[in-house]
Formats: sequence, C-alpha cells, structure tokens
Amino acid sequence: MFHFDKQNENVLYMDKRQHFEKLDSGHVINVNPDVVADFRNMPFEDESFYMVIFDPPHLIKAGETSWLAKKYGVLEETWQEDIKQGFDECMRVLKPNGTLIFKWNEEQVKLNEILRSIDYQPIIGNKRSKTHWLVFMKGVANE
Ligand SMILES: C[S@@+](CC[C@H](N)C(=O)[O-])C[C@H]1O[C@@H](n2cnc3c(N)ncnc32)[C@H](O)[C@@H]1O
Repeated sequence: MFHFDKQNENVLYMDKRQHFEKLDSGHVINVNPDVVADFRNMPFEDESFYMVIFDPPHLIKAGETSWLAKKYGVLEETWQEDIKQGFDECMRVLKPNGTLIFKWNEEQVKLNEILRSIDYQPIIGNKRSKTHWLVFMKGVANE
C-alpha cells in the first residue's frame, strides 16, 4: 500500500500470505508478494540486500473477519519474540552498513514496547506521530 510503484522491479515484496478478496464493504484486499515466507525465518542468504523495509502488523487484537485484520494482518500472541526475530532476520539479510526502515503504528502497542523487545537502536524517527518511521543502519552503534 505505501509503495509509490507497486510493480517496482527493484523491490522484492515478501509476505506470509497471498490473498485476494472483495469484501461486501467494497474494500479490496490484494496481497500479492513476490515471495511468500515468514519474516521470522527468511529464505535469503546473509547480506543479500542494501535496504530492508519491515512493516509488520501492528494490531494484537482485531476481529478475525474485520477489514483491518484482513488488510494489515494481526500479530500472534508471541508478538514480542516474533518482532525480535523479524528484526534479527532483517539485520541478517542486510549487507554491512545496509539500511532498515521500520514502520509502526502505536494504536495498540507503544513504540517503546517494541524498542524494549529488540536489540537495535534506531538512528532517527518521528517521535511525535502515532505512526512511526524509524531508520536503522546495520552495524552502526545498534547491536
Ligand atoms: C501492515 S501489512 C504490510 C503492508 C505493506 N507494507 C504494503 O505496503 O502493502 C503487514 C503484513 O505482514 C504480514 N505478516 C504477518 N505476519 C507475518 C510473518 N510472520 N511473516 C511475513 N509476513 C507477515 C501480513 O500478512 C500483512 O500483510
């Protein structure tokens, strides 16, 4: 959704599901990644990418049939460990000095809770907004 060019050939899109559905509400859910895989165990070699954009679900509770849950997904009960594993995997597949962009919305879980769960510190981020875009750099004062 946040990609300016959704067919950008320079980007490899990964999600754990492939899903197309037209809801009665008129919303269209179209999750159509290049690679179907789990961010906790990515099918990529170490040091594969210059940049990784990590945009996990930010909801821990939402009706399973709700439009939001279908569009954005919902975190599992083990979300703290899952997000930590996701960060570790993002850093593993990044090249040295590579950039990790992380998006988080604080609707249900505060950013500080996320930062407490992971072993990395962002370089910059917008602290006032409810939606955060954080920038991390592999190997730079963050491990
Ligand atoms: C906020 S959405 C991503 C939206 C995407 N950035 C875009 O611009 O369209 C979060 C996605 O993470 C996926 N997801 C949830 N758990 C996952 C996991 N363990 N591994 C990979 N993808 C996962 C969900 O299926 C959901 O589509």
